[in-house]
Amino acid sequence: MRTQVVIVGGGPSGLLLGQLLHCAGIENIIVERQSGDYVLGRIRAGVLEQVTMDLLKQAGVDKRARAEGLPHDGIELLFKGARHRIDLNGLTGGKQVTVYGQTEVTHDLMDARAAAGLTTIYNAAPVSLHDFDTASPRVRYQKDGATHEIACDFIAGCDGYHGISRASVPADALHLYEKVYPFGWLGVLADVPPLSHELIYANTPRGFALCSMRSATRSRYYVQVGTEERVENWSDDAFWNELRNRLDPEAREHLVTGPSLEKSIAPLRSFVAEPMRFGSLLLAGDAAHIVPPTGAKGLNLATADVGYLSRALEIFYREHSASALDRYSELCLRRVWKAERFSWWFTSLMHRFPDNGEFGQKIQEAELDYLVNSRAASTSLAENYVGLPLESF
Ligand code: FAD
Ligand code: DHB
Repeated sequence: MRTQVVIVGGGPSGLLLGQLLHCAGIENIIVERQSGDYVLGRIRAGVLEQVTMDLLKQAGVDKRARAEGLPHDGIELLFKGARHRIDLNGLTGGKQVTVYGQTEVTHDLMDARAAAGLTTIYNAAPVSLHDFDTASPRVRYQKDGATHEIACDFIAGCDGYHGISRASVPADALHLYEKVYPFGWLGVLADVPPLSHELIYANTPRGFALCSMRSATRSRYYVQVGTEERVENWSDDAFWNELRNRLDPEAREHLVTGPSLEKSIAPLRSFVAEPMRFGSLLLAGDAAHIVPPTGAKGLNLATADVGYLSRALEIFYREHSASALDRYSELCLRRVWKAERFSWWFTSLMHRFPDNGEFGQKIQEAELDYLVNSRAASTSLAENYVGLPLESF
C-alpha cells in the first residue's frame, strides 16, 4: 500500500489533519491502535478557541459545532467566597470561546471522514515507524494476525502522549521538558442543568474546583484531589458534597446534582518535546506536548499544530517547497510555550499546593484580587484564554 501521508493516531488531531489534507487534495491514511468506539468514549476537553472553530470550518466540519456549541463571552473566578466576572469579549475586541465537547468534535470528524470514503485502519496494533530519516518512510502494523506496510512521503505522529511516534525518535535527538503537579482533577459528567451560564473557576482553601458544561442539560464538574486518590473511593454523593463545599453560598443553593454518567481522575502535567520534526516524521498534539487542563488549552494546541502542519504540507505539494515544513517545529513551539506558560500560571494561581500553606493561599488571593480589578491583568488573562493567533509561514 502507498499514500502521501500516514497519520498515526485517530484522536482529534489525527482526524482533523486527515480532513484538512483531504480538502487540500493530499491523500492520507489513518492508523489507530484502538477501535472507533473506544476513541469516542473518552470524555476530555470542552472549550474550543476561535482558531479551532476556524480550522473546523476550513475542514468543512463546523456545522454542528456552530449550531449546537454554546458561545461564551466570559468566565467567572471564585475566591474568598465571591465570584468575579472576566469579560472575555469586551477585553479582547469581540472574541469568544465555544463550549462543545471533544467527543462531539471527534464524532463530526469521523462522520466527515466516512462520508469522504477515506481510509482509517482501526485496531491496528502494534504499529511501528521505519526510515523516517529518509524521504521514503514506512509504517508497519498488525491487524487480524497479518502484518501490513504503508509506504509514504511523510508520517504525522498524532498518537498522543503514550504513542509510538515520539518513542521511535532516538533519545539523543529529543529534549524533554517536564513538570508534574502534586494533584489531579476528579471529573464528573452528569445530565443536570449547569450551575451557571458561564464557567466558574474556583480557588478555595479546600482546593480548586471548576464548574463547566457540555450543553443546557449536561454539566461537567471537577475538583482538585491528591495524586493518591482513587476514583473507586469517590461515591457520587462524596463528589457533590466536596464540590458544594468549594462554592459560594448562591452557587451552593443553585447546584443541581444527579447520577454521574462518567467519573475519572486525570493527573496534571506540563510536558514539551523539542523539536517536533525529525526528517519525514512530524509530531502534533499530545504526542509533542501536554498542558495541565486549567485554561482548556490541550485540544486547542493540538488543532493549532495540525493547522500549521496541513498548511506546510500543502505548500510542499503545491509549490514543491520544503520551506514551510522546515519552519513547522519552530512556529508550533513558539505558540506551544506561550500556552504552557499560561496553563502553568493559571494552575499555580488556582490550586492548593501541599507545601504552600496559609501564606501561599493569601498570596493567591491577593493576586486574584489584583487580577479582577486591573484591566491590564484581566486583559492578559482574557487574551490567553480565548487563544493566541496563528502566525503565517
Ligand atoms: P489523543 O486524544 O491522545 O489521541 C491520540 C490517539 O492516538 C488515540 O486515539 C490513541 O488511541 C492513538 N494511539 C496511541 N498510541 C498509538 C499507537 N502506538 N499507534 C496508533 N495509534 C495510537 N484538554 C482540554 O483542553 N480540556 C480538558 O478538559 C481536558 N481534559 C483531559 C482529560 C484527560 C484525562 C486527558 C488525558 C486529556 C485532557 N485534555 C483536555 C487534553 C486533550 O484531551 C488533549 O490535548 C487532546 O485529546 C489531544 O488530542 P490528540 O489527538 O493529540 O491526542
Ligand atoms: C473544561 C475543562 C477545562 O480544563 C477547562 O479549563 C474548562 C472546561 C471542560 O471539560 O469542560
